Amino acid sequence: MFDEIEFDKIKRLPKYVFAAVGELKMQQRRAGADVIDLSMGNPDGPTPRHIIDKLIESAQKPKVYGYSASKGIYKLRLAAADWYKRKYGVDLDPETEVVASMGSKEGYAHLVQAITNVGDTAIIPDPCYPIHSQAFILASGNVARFAMKLNDDLSLDEDAFVGDVKRCLTETSPRPKYLVVNFPHNPTTATVTPKFYEKIVALAREERFYILSDIAYAELTFDGYQTPSIMSVAGAKEVAVESYTLSKSYNMAGWRVGFVVGSPKLVGALAKIKSWLDYGMFTPIQVAATIALNGDQSCVEEIRQNYRRRRDALIKSFAAAGWEVVSPKASMFVWARIPPPLRDLGSLEFAKELLINANVAVSPGVGFGPAGDEYVRIAMIENENRIRQAAKNIKRYFKESGVKVSEESDPPYTQG
Ligand SMILES: Cc1ncc(COP(=O)(O)O)c(C=O)c1O
Repeated sequence: MFDEIEFDKIKRLPKYVFAAVGELKMQQRRAGADVIDLSMGNPDGPTPRHIIDKLIESAQKPKVYGYSASKGIYKLRLAAADWYKRKYGVDLDPETEVVASMGSKEGYAHLVQAITNVGDTAIIPDPCYPIHSQAFILASGNVARFAMKLNDDLSLDEDAFVGDVKRCLTETSPRPKYLVVNFPHNPTTATVTPKFYEKIVALAREERFYILSDIAYAELTFDGYQTPSIMSVAGAKEVAVESYTLSKSYNMAGWRVGFVVGSPKLVGALAKIKSWLDYGMFTPIQVAATIALNGDQSCVEEIRQNYRRRRDALIKSFAAAGWEVVSPKASMFVWARIPPPLRDLGSLEFAKELLINANVAVSPGVGFGPAGDEYVRIAMIENENRIRQAAKNIKRYFKESGVKVSEESDPPYTQG
């Protein structure tokens, strides 16, 4: 009906590549297969008990059922500022430099909506977390991309990155106004040093563009690596904002709580657009989130160690299956290059084959951008035994497909 009425914005959004794997996963499950699902970045663990208890306690108070504050209750914004002070020694004004968001995805997408004029360009490295680029498309902006270069240990090649940004600035018309950075990076797990932020803040000040930083995986770090924050750089608040989320560090993905901090101009734009679009998160969720940030942080250490154990199990068992993958220093993912004879399939076909032949679901790298097509992203959202079982299944499939498989004996597998 009404074929002449078309939705240009929706047409510019690509079909979600992950939907293809998702549909196949459901088909396999319906057919009775025991699919080991390592596809989405959706934490499988429970939210720590004291946070749930606070939600229950708060939900029993009579005055919490009305509309809340769209930019977040003051105590939550203060808790976010205190988190930055404790973790990074950064001072933030909870009134002008912090906005609470319904998860960092919502905060980011609405910020982009608020600050993008029609045709504005943002530089987004390839590959990326899909909303980082699509938010600009939804806001009628454009995206300039470059293939991000990583070192062998998956740390960012920081000088190459700065060079690529400079090139994008001079070669792209209209000249980009925004740069998006996300370290630890989804999907590649790439990490950066504090020096990196000094360099890009200096560049942003000189070349006059804003930086949107996303540190969703700030707390999921291993082997002594510490996630730096752009906010630690002197003057960063003039040119940058940073988003953080409780989804990953506290297993609170379904609660939808995060925050955006930094440049009062950008934070103010987000607060203003949110005041038009929503009435804030349910107050008890905000109260419980405040407790999460202010309370005992040993739960974060437990969550981190859980991912670390899974990572170690994955690296070891996949190596025994003939798939050598680089051990990530951070995040809940492994960014795995597809082994040679199967690499030619491309990441989408490979992910489908893996699902059909090994009952293992992963995310095809191409879903994060063309530069990801030789890789798949493996999310560590099943337990160690299931990860080892995935490796066994993969080994069998690799043998059948002519991939060189290690002759080492299989890692032990116990049902559990
Ligand atoms: C880099 C990155 N940012 C943000 C998010 C979304 O987080 P939230 O649950 O806070 O919206 C994700 C989720 O996977 C992510 O990978």
